Amino acid sequence: MKFLLSILLPLMLGLIPAPVDYKPAKGSSSVDRVVVRKPSRVLKKATAELPDFSRNEAYRLRIGRRRVVIEAYTPEGVFRARKSLEQLQALGNVPRGIILDYPRFRHRGLMIDESRSFKGMDFLKKQMDAMALLKFNILHLHLDDSAGWRIESEAYPLLTEKTAWRIGQLYWDWEKNGYPFVDKDHPQAYGGCYSPAEMRELVAYAAERHITIIPEIEMPGHSMEVTTAYPEVACQREDGTRFKGAWDVCPGSEATFQLFETVLSEVMDIFPSEYIHIGGDEASMYSWTKCVNCRRRMEEEGFTDIRQLQGYLVRRIEAFVRSRGRQIIGWDEILETGVPQTAVIQSWRGVSGGKKANAAGHKVVMSPNSHVYFDYYQDLIRKEPPACGELTSLRHVYSYEPVAPGMDESLVLGLQANLWCEYIPTCEHAEYMLWPRAFAIAETGWSPAGSKDPDGFRKRALAMQDVLRAAGYNTFDLRTETNLARSGYRTFEDYAAAGLEDPAGIPTEE
Ligand code: ACM
Ligand code: ZN
Repeated sequence: MKFLLSILLPLMLGLIPAPVDYKPAKGSSSVDRVVVRKPSRVLKKATAELPDFSRNEAYRLRIGRRRVVIEAYTPEGVFRARKSLEQLQALGNVPRGIILDYPRFRHRGLMIDESRSFKGMDFLKKQMDAMALLKFNILHLHLDDSAGWRIESEAYPLLTEKTAWRIGQLYWDWEKNGYPFVDKDHPQAYGGCYSPAEMRELVAYAAERHITIIPEIEMPGHSMEVTTAYPEVACQREDGTRFKGAWDVCPGSEATFQLFETVLSEVMDIFPSEYIHIGGDEASMYSWTKCVNCRRRMEEEGFTDIRQLQGYLVRRIEAFVRSRGRQIIGWDEILETGVPQTAVIQSWRGVSGGKKANAAGHKVVMSPNSHVYFDYYQDLIRKEPPACGELTSLRHVYSYEPVAPGMDESLVLGLQANLWCEYIPTCEHAEYMLWPRAFAIAETGWSPAGSKDPDGFRKRALAMQDVLRAAGYNTFDLRTETNLARSGYRTFEDYAAAGLEDPAGIPTEE
């Protein structure tokens, strides 16, 4: 009974993520005064065995009739406590009692794709406000891709001058029209970019909320905008001509390393994050097979397989970033062509890359497209705006456990949802795809392993979505969610096989 209560009581509060422990007392608090104290013996004892990252965010919240006492080791712990209190106030009731809390993982993140559609400062600040409320601590910004480069470079100004504006707000319209980039003042120009000053402002805004921004500078694939702005980083044919607007940059050319190392230096000046994301996914390697510079590089390095060029580029960039005191994160492809163990691997093609990387001693961030791709449908195709992938409902996201059997949990930094924006041309739509599904990431990243309760979580998520909606967020409305999405099954077949009826029905009980 005592064991059961220790699991159920933290869920009763309505907080997302659910706290580690809650001891209730009778009545509610008017929260007239909030006092911050050093850690008590109780908190020290409860957190003695925790890893540093978790203790740093730990807090104890004693909620009295009028007075609330926060205990924590760090300003970050105090901040997390304040956000718990803020949630309870927003939910309309601050029950008395004692909350003890700390995170399971050190990386609780969201990725936003700024290239396929440009969001701007207000949007990112607004999302970070919600992220802070939910105890997220990582915002990964995908700052460049074929559809546009989004951060001004002093040394390479054409990256944004030539590719930050295009015709076609929807990525697919731009693609259909043959990828037209235009000048900023073209009457049909869509796009934008961030200045270094704006990015610094955003970094400071994030830091105030104990969020780290991880910038991503993608290479060598997804790079049509780079090869358009600076053709010297594209592959070269025997006759001296360049591959125009090539998907991949050329790992045979020194101009490529000059550009990326210079840009990364600028980026590292702006973003203080320990980790710098360098992409690394989906290189087509098409132009490499036909390029004189790539051929020369292969001969010099004694390579026999074209894929070794990807490993060459990633290792050189990894060493460069490490020489500046930072470490790289790369999508799981980078594992396949050889990279030092200091590289963090982000598993996206399901969990297999994460498992392999973990077994090889790499730290990993789990963001498998099987569970946490937020450009995927969150409900039936017939009722949702165009999206992609399989049904990825709130319940499905919530079912994800980042540490697969056999994995070394100490090397799992955490998890992250990715919001790719080929289908998401506006900020309103981006919000709709993020919330409330991101609640499930927040809880999986923070709350103890084995504490999941899908039905109870859904109730808490309903209340929390209303908190966000009241604050002006355009969330998906769980009240419109169909039976299929609510069930967590992904197909009509699985739903029917479980003996359930009316998958497209929408219950009205809430
Ligand atoms: C990815 O989704 N291509 C990392
Ligand atoms: Zn080449």
